Amino acid sequence: SAKQTFKGKQVLITSGPTQEAIDPVRFISNHSSGKMGAALAEAFASQGAEVHVVLGHGSIKPDHSNIHIYPVKSASEMYEASRNLHQKMNICVFAAAVADYAPKEIAKEKIKKAGEGMTIELVRNVDIAAALGQEKKAHQIHVGFALETENEAFHAKEKLKKKNFDLIVLNSMKEAGAGFQLDTNKVTLFSKSGSEQTSEVLPKAQIADLILKGIKNLPVEI
Ligand code: PMT
Repeated sequence: SAKQTFKGKQVLITSGPTQEAIDPVRFISNHSSGKMGAALAEAFASQGAEVHVVLGHGSIKPDHSNIHIYPVKSASEMYEASRNLHQKMNICVFAAAVADYAPKEIAKEKIKKAGEGMTIELVRNVDIAAALGQEKKAHQIHVGFALETENEAFHAKEKLKKKNFDLIVLNSMKEAGAGFQLDTNKVTLFSKSGSEQTSEVLPKAQIADLILKGIKNLPVEI
C-alpha cells in the first residue's frame, strides 16, 4: 500500500467546471472533465488524507472511502462549499476551472428566439482561490493551477503571487497531451520559494503523485 505521507491531514480539492445559468435550460461552462481533480483526490486519499472534493456538475467522481464529495454547479456555490470547509483544512488544491463571469440575471423562463443578435450581460464571479488565499494561515498550504495559452510561465508566476499560493501547477493548452479532458497532462510546478520543475507527458495519476511530492517538499509545517 502507498506511503501514508498525508495521514490524518484534511485536504480540500476543487474540481471540474462551473456552470453559470443563463435561463432554465442554458448555461456558460468550459471543457473541464474533473479528471485532474479526481486523480489528486485519489492520490491524497491513498496516502492517508481525509479528502473533501467540491465537485462541479457532471465531473468524474473520485472513489475512495476517505473521499467526501460536495456537488455544486455555479462558482458561487463552489465558493460557499469551499469556504465552509476552509478553516479546518491543512491543504487546499484549486484544480477546478471556474467561470470568471456569470450572467447578471438568470431569466426565469426559457429565452425566446427573437432578433438577429442578442447580448447577455456578465458580471465578475468571486475568485475562490484568491478569496480563501487572503484567509490562509501559516499552517495551511494552498496549491493553484494555471491553464494558459500564451506567456505561460509569466502568467503562472503572477497567479502564484496574486492568489497567495505556495505552489502553482502550470498546464498549457499549447502542449500536446496536456490540459482538459485527456487522461494525460504535462505540467510545470512553480513554488513560492522559486523552485521550478517540469514533467514529461504522464497519466494524470502520475502527475498527481508528482504534485503531492512537490507539496511534501514545501517548507510549511502543516
Ligand atoms: O478537469 P480536466 O479535464 O482533467 O482538466 C484539468 C484542468 C486543465 C481543468 C486543470 O488541470 C486546471 O488547469 N485547472 C485550473 C483551470 C483554470 O481555470 O485555471 P485559471 O488559470 O483560470 O485559474 C487559476 C487558479 O485560480 C486555478 O487554481 C483556479 O481553480 C482558481 N480560480 C480561478 C477563477 C476563479 N473564479 N476562482 C478560482 O478559484
